[in-house]
Amino acid sequence: MINQAIQQLRVLAEEAASAIAAAGTTAALDDVQIRYLGRKGAVAEQMKLMKGLTADERPRLGQAANETKLAIEAAIDARRTALLADEDARKLDQDRVDVTLPGRPRWLGAKHPVTQALEDITDIFRQLGFAIEEGPEIEDEWHCFDALNVPADHPARDAQDTFFISSTPDVDASNNRMILRTHTSPVQIRGMKNRTPPVRFIAPGRVYRNDKIDASHYPIFTQIEGLYVDKNVSFADLKGTLLAFARLYYGPNVNLRFRPSYFPFTEPSAEVDVSCSVCGGSGCRVCKQTGWVEVLGSGMVHPNVFRAVGYNPDEVTGFAFGMGIERIAMLKHGIDDIRLFYENDIRFLEQFA
Ligand code: DAH
Repeated sequence: MINQAIQQLRVLAEEAASAIAAAGTTAALDDVQIRYLGRKGAVAEQMKLMKGLTADERPRLGQAANETKLAIEAAIDARRTALLADEDARKLDQDRVDVTLPGRPRWLGAKHPVTQALEDITDIFRQLGFAIEEGPEIEDEWHCFDALNVPADHPARDAQDTFFISSTPDVDASNNRMILRTHTSPVQIRGMKNRTPPVRFIAPGRVYRNDKIDASHYPIFTQIEGLYVDKNVSFADLKGTLLAFARLYYGPNVNLRFRPSYFPFTEPSAEVDVSCSVCGGSGCRVCKQTGWVEVLGSGMVHPNVFRAVGYNPDEVTGFAFGMGIERIAMLKHGIDDIRLFYENDIRFLEQFA
């Protein structure tokens, strides 16, 4: 009886050994442990045979059972350690980060097409020796109109065209009301008052007009003003500067056309057309079949403007020009509605990235 029981324990130990070896996970190993070493497990089952044994047989079975238990325990511990190490290694392998892989490119956004045009044009004038000047968007009438020789009854000074900061412009007693600047030309005045000739700068910035919104009008838009004042500055300098600019911006083959015009702050004044860079001048949708597109206003600084800033018009001369950036960006990209610039629809903006 005792020998049979001890033999049975050996068989159990062998079975357990192969079950332990076959357990592929720590969970399967837990099952094996319960099956052999649990309170109702196979080893405990053998111990029940104690009852039928004599007093000196009992310790022998007890010792044999204990040894079997210890052996199975030791085998389970060893297997558990191995399985945990495997599981760790597998997890590490799965989570492996290959630091040598190139990064995934991320969409960084892009500059707005008006900003792009503004920066491109500013860069070109910087190359031509112009400084950059800035002025306030909330201006007074004197800088925006009076100093620029714009007569008191000029339609631009009407509330229909200009945003007044005061809510009741018509009853405002002061004759120098605050407004949103309608053009960047007042920066000419501020720039000249700040220094003595020679003066050469451009002034980029936002301007505001009380216009009805349509495909070519928006109450906010962007201009770049240019000014060059020195002794003996001539209309030829104006033409040469603008032609250099146009060829750097539109390409080496474009030409300019100067048409007589009128601005209160210049005399003589000219509107400037550039030969259509889209069709090369042969006529297309962008230039409305004329071969030319109007890009800016310009002229020789009016003597009254010099007087307003304390310059002597007998000593200095100068040229000035102003251009609308939205219009230039529209012509460049074939955009036919100015409102697109301010709706900020990502599908529109992405095209200029
Ligand atoms: N200020 C004018 C406008 O907003 C543009 C302009 C024309 C500016 C002629 C100038 C200039 O400096 O000489 O329409």
